[in-house]
Amino acid sequence: MKINENYKNLEESYLFSTIAKKVDEYTKAHPEAKVIKMGIGDVTLPICQKAADAFAKAAMEQGKAATFHGYGPEQGYDFLRVAVQKYYASFQVEVAAEDIFISDGAKSDVGNILDLFDADNTVLIPDPVYPVYMDTNVMAGRKIVFMDANVENGFLPMPPKGQKADIIYLCSPNNPTGSVYTKAQLREWVDYALANNAVIIFDAAYEAFITEADLPRSIYLVEGAKKCAIEICSLSKTAGFTGTRCGYTIVPDELIQKDSKGSDVKIADLWNRRQGSKFNGVSYPVQRAAEAVFTPEGQKQTKATIAYYQENARIIAKTCDELGIKYTGGINSPYIWLKSPNGMGSWEFFDYLLNEIQVVGTPGAGFGANGDGWFRLTAFSTHELTAEAMERFKTLFKK
Ligand code: MLT
Repeated sequence: MKINENYKNLEESYLFSTIAKKVDEYTKAHPEAKVIKMGIGDVTLPICQKAADAFAKAAMEQGKAATFHGYGPEQGYDFLRVAVQKYYASFQVEVAAEDIFISDGAKSDVGNILDLFDADNTVLIPDPVYPVYMDTNVMAGRKIVFMDANVENGFLPMPPKGQKADIIYLCSPNNPTGSVYTKAQLREWVDYALANNAVIIFDAAYEAFITEADLPRSIYLVEGAKKCAIEICSLSKTAGFTGTRCGYTIVPDELIQKDSKGSDVKIADLWNRRQGSKFNGVSYPVQRAAEAVFTPEGQKQTKATIAYYQENARIIAKTCDELGIKYTGGINSPYIWLKSPNGMGSWEFFDYLLNEIQVVGTPGAGFGANGDGWFRLTAFSTHELTAEAMERFKTLFKK
């Protein structure tokens, strides 16, 4: 027996597990401390009423022989695939319901999709970015080329000249920086992917937070993207499903690559095959709850929740403005990406905030080397706790 030695190349624990452990240790040592958590992007408001009602009704159906559902289709029930299809149509994107695969969330599928690709592929990953892209490729022993995301390029790296890649990760709106690619920028990425026979894995988990109407919520708004891009999305942030678990992955029928013999292979066929053997689908009540999110009433309620978080982002941004702390994000994303004051390293700033004012954020270095000196706060807390955290910031940084 040989273990997968690639695991030795990973950090000892996953970023958010490391943070949770540090906070836990601090809380045990200071049981009286009122810690405000603005680290992991976990929501605080419940799933919308419409979804909760559908969830409960479907759970009751499972308790009666006449309405009971056993194994469902691995790809997801048609009722939800069609609901997602209509949701895309609401922002002028046409996707076929058969290309939509229902999942238990974006994180799982970001890792699972790699089953389809050989270990001998070169992967392009922005730095900083959601750490799952790097971790899952390190586990597979793939060659990673990092693309610098920084103030100069607005945290939106563009296709590298003279560098070939096979798999490209784009996250827009970006986690952690909140930057969003324009349609013209995505056009360049699609052209690059097509020219290199590369596949783009487009993480759209935060699309519902886009407020600037001209910014694209899907890569499929760019012509040709269906020939080169897989889009992964989640109801976690959109509709509070972090604990309920539901998302979807779009693998277009048009996405075709060659095998080693030069024959065409539909990536959707591989994904379908993979899901058939490795996944039994998302539970029926969860899919009914997700369907309800996409009804007109569910959308209205969900948008009200997002507006609530956007108000938190404004509270954080306003405080940073007052204190002269540089930041980005918060307008089209639930994250504020700020420069650690006084030249502190991001883990140093993490410890400083935890020890001095008991506020937890996420050190930028956890998202990649370029994140050092930066820090992420989430807008997913309550108004009260966000305001309280910002008052505590003022005690530390008021000039
Ligand atoms: C984050 O805080 O970056 C996210 O909550 C992590 C995730 O979605 O898995």
